[in-house]
Amino acid sequence: MTTNTSFQPVLDRIAEEIAELTDRGAPADYIPALAAGDPRDFGMAVAELDGTVYGVGDWRRPFSTQSVTKVFTLALALAGEGEALWTHVGREPSGDPFNSLVQLEYEHGIPRNPFINAGALVVTDRLHRLTGDASGNLLAFLRAESGNPDLAFDADVAASEAAHGDRNAALAHFMASYGNITGPVPELLREYFRQCSLEASCADLALATGFLARHGLRADGSRLLTRSQAKQINAVMLTCGTYDAAGDFAYRVGLPGKSGVGGAVVAVVPGRCTLCVWSPGLDSRGNSVAGVAALDRFTTITGLSVF
Ligand code: DON
Repeated sequence: MTTNTSFQPVLDRIAEEIAELTDRGAPADYIPALAAGDPRDFGMAVAELDGTVYGVGDWRRPFSTQSVTKVFTLALALAGEGEALWTHVGREPSGDPFNSLVQLEYEHGIPRNPFINAGALVVTDRLHRLTGDASGNLLAFLRAESGNPDLAFDADVAASEAAHGDRNAALAHFMASYGNITGPVPELLREYFRQCSLEASCADLALATGFLARHGLRADGSRLLTRSQAKQINAVMLTCGTYDAAGDFAYRVGLPGKSGVGGAVVAVVPGRCTLCVWSPGLDSRGNSVAGVAALDRFTTITGLSVF
């Protein structure tokens, strides 16, 4: 890793500008273990295709990755199951909050996309059925791609989510009633909460997202996804990765992105680099205020966007 090459001046400038932001949102309080997050904390990393990483602020500090892990679970499930995955989960923006139940009944238990909670529960169930150990496979993948063997789940965060998980439990049971969850719901919820509790840094997540910028190739050069599947995931990130704010995110940032209520957002510049930014203050849709602002600045300053 190096902190002294071409993206560094851009990151330094963004960090200075973000330090001036006064309205930085509030940490997620529906998961008690996340409520103590400080909106003034900020980190950002950029990883090039060869694994060179640049960073600023708290870019090496681990945080709760939450829904950012939904990208990796989807990639592993799509690699394992192929096109058939899309008969269990859609790929349209929901326009509703990430934990909403309303569309599920009239859409017969098929969630709109893999990045809302309902969709991620289905994808986790598919991956668990394919591998027998969804969270174990996720962890092994993230350790390999980030090059960080110390990545781990946080048992306290997982327990905190489980203790306040009525909404996710309702989603899972409801979809099970349509036959769209194959395994026992309590086991699925355990797997899902574990995944959300993964602790990782901006550097770890920027590196781990690299396969999406390398059109499906992993860090060691082996292929996880076809070029077409990598395009599909990037497209679903662009249209659904920031929930009912995906239109605004595309307008401001112009990149495939995925957020989590821990305050992280990852973004992909296909063929060029990947980014991760973290700041725990969220807007009303659950996206990091400073994180989205920093990505907005990055694409504006560098001109690196998919448009
Ligand atoms: O299931 C939940 O509600 C959380 N573990 C994850 C939600 C999340 O990160 C959505 N993000 N913006």
